[in-house]
Amino acid sequence: MATNDRLLRALAREPVDRPPVWMMRQAGRYLPEYRAIRATNDFLTMCKTPDLAVEVSMQPISRFGMDASIIFSDILVPVEAMGIPVEFNPAPVLAQPVRTADDVERLRIPDPVDDTGFVLEAIGQLRRALDNSIPVIGFAGAPWTLASYAIEGGGSKTYAITKQMMYSDPALFHRLSEKIADTIAIYLAAQIEAGAEAVQIFDSWAGNLSLDDYVAFALPYTRRVVERLPAGSVRTIHYIGNGAHLVEAAASAGTDALSVDWRTDISEARRRTDHRVAFQGNLDPCVLLGPRDRVIAETQRMLDACAGEPGYVANLGHGILPTTPVENAEAFIATVRAAAGQAA
Ligand code: CP3
Repeated sequence: MATNDRLLRALAREPVDRPPVWMMRQAGRYLPEYRAIRATNDFLTMCKTPDLAVEVSMQPISRFGMDASIIFSDILVPVEAMGIPVEFNPAPVLAQPVRTADDVERLRIPDPVDDTGFVLEAIGQLRRALDNSIPVIGFAGAPWTLASYAIEGGGSKTYAITKQMMYSDPALFHRLSEKIADTIAIYLAAQIEAGAEAVQIFDSWAGNLSLDDYVAFALPYTRRVVERLPAGSVRTIHYIGNGAHLVEAAASAGTDALSVDWRTDISEARRRTDHRVAFQGNLDPCVLLGPRDRVIAETQRMLDACAGEPGYVANLGHGILPTTPVENAEAFIATVRAAAGQAA
């Protein structure tokens, strides 16, 4: 186990000296040293080159000293390996979206080692680079969010094409979700085997679903992934964007922690889930665009509201924005790191 075990302890709802802290998308364009590497390498090449992926994963750790390092990659890497071409401009573009039964039948369930071995190799290298100081977080997209990219061909405001398939041909939507869930289950198991001590499942867009649709079309497949992870050897986090109405259902997928955004009140969410799961979040990343003293005050307010009982990981409510001033990211991390003695 990593020497700094705050993240793993907090996810197990064990007492810690202060909440662990990391930031979603902590390796990224807000850092000049990331932009320097990115200037001469395209994003997917960086994901597929372990030396580069490890270098950029380490950048925020060297600068700020977070309590965990998330491997640099993207949720669409295994989707590409299923046979759907993916480009980043920088938003994802999938030029051959999945719309018909033939499209779904053609998708393969990739072998994690043969088809995405670069991710596993990067995790192993990252562990060595960290010299066991902090845990490595592996990750994958949740089946619903990945299905929405596959069906829409990119991001969406309404998820109209995805919902049209859910409602008009539910069997086809279920078949696609099953294939994605099977892909993700073995992909995450391979990341754990390669050295990830925690994994996060990103259902970034599931908040667009009603509770009933979430329970019918998304939850069963996230649960299928969680159930297949190797028992006992890993801590698990489940992120839902814009999901205040989904807290109880999302917690029932079976992960150790639920990661929520600024629209979810974490104290209330703890009560709604009978204090059975840990929580991660939930500062609005836009707060980091404002004045530094406000970053510090809002981070402190979040800690006061969330850190009163075991089972809390300080984070943003969504990925850090590329326009974030580096000194504000620093202020966020430093404020949590100074919170010694405040945890339960
Ligand atoms: O957190 C980290 O530091 C690890 C790296 C990471 C990336 N993507 C790098 C990335 C992680 C964990 C992701 C996950 C991811 N990718 C999610 C879930 C998290 C979330 O934000 O909800 C989603 C929805 C995606 C899909 C995706 N990839 C989008 C929507 C975009 C473009 C948006 C943008 O930020 O411009 C990407 C591209 C992407 N993924 C970049 C990075 C650093 C930017 C690529 C570049 O450098 O040009």
